[in-house]
Amino acid sequence: MVQRTLKYYYTKARKEGWALPQFNFSCAEQLQGIIEAGVHLKAPLLLGTSEGDSRFLGKTQAVALVESYRKDTRLPIFLNFDHGKSFESVKEAIEAGYDAVHFDGSAFLFKENIAIARKVVALARKNRISVVEGEFSEIPGKHSSFHKGEAPLLSKDSFTDPAQAREFVRKTGVDSLAVLIGTVHGIYKKNPNLDLERLQEIKKHVMSFLVLHGGSGTPPRDLLAAVKTGVVKVNISTELRAAFTNTLRETLKKEPDEIAPYNIFVPSVRAVQKAAERHIQFLGSANKI
Ligand code: 13P
Repeated sequence: MVQRTLKYYYTKARKEGWALPQFNFSCAEQLQGIIEAGVHLKAPLLLGTSEGDSRFLGKTQAVALVESYRKDTRLPIFLNFDHGKSFESVKEAIEAGYDAVHFDGSAFLFKENIAIARKVVALARKNRISVVEGEFSEIPGKHSSFHKGEAPLLSKDSFTDPAQAREFVRKTGVDSLAVLIGTVHGIYKKNPNLDLERLQEIKKHVMSFLVLHGGSGTPPRDLLAAVKTGVVKVNISTELRAAFTNTLRETLKKEPDEIAPYNIFVPSVRAVQKAAERHIQFLGSANKI
């Protein structure tokens, strides 16, 4: 089968009204669960590693693992570098062989962010990167833990400004834009509501693909409404981390004498598979290969 690009699937998703979940992972066992979900549901897979994930796993190793699954399963599988915070870190991911990169320049001044994102786009075009994602409105919250507290307070003033989005996309040439319309990283007692009117406005202003971060804990109906408004990708990390680690904790409690990793990790792999399948189902990427 000819390997189609991530851009092909974004275009198809936008036309048909579904979205790709981006599943982040930081170890081979989490990846195994995600792959099994994709195989079971015949779904194109977009995987992600953040700077922290890939610091642990290794960028070269992440690329090699994904490549081996691509060969074995013959599924369209893509690897995105998530929230690269500097030109150097994104460059490393491009050189390691990632299929897509996200430069998160939200900590920079708008003008500096544009200048670096342009450099990222230029480098990506010289390599085989099909999608460069940009960001200028920081998505609050943490996807490193399962929060039971209140969600970060969001002011609509911090939401992505449509005119700024147009300027950013026009000046940088990014293929996709991470927008802030109410999703936050992490799971809280109640995740905030989404501002779909703002999303509509942004959509009118920019031609690039629109993507959401902070998919965990956001009610599926809210995410689906955003997808129907034009979002083509939703990032999921916390839910998969929680599925993996909470299950591991239970397994170790239940089986205190078991020491074989190939036994201990099995329930965690299944838990990740189940969580990934749920997202594939409701976002509509099943049977879309
Ligand atoms: P969650 O941890 O809320 O799923 O967000 C993940 C994310 O946006 C990674 O970029």
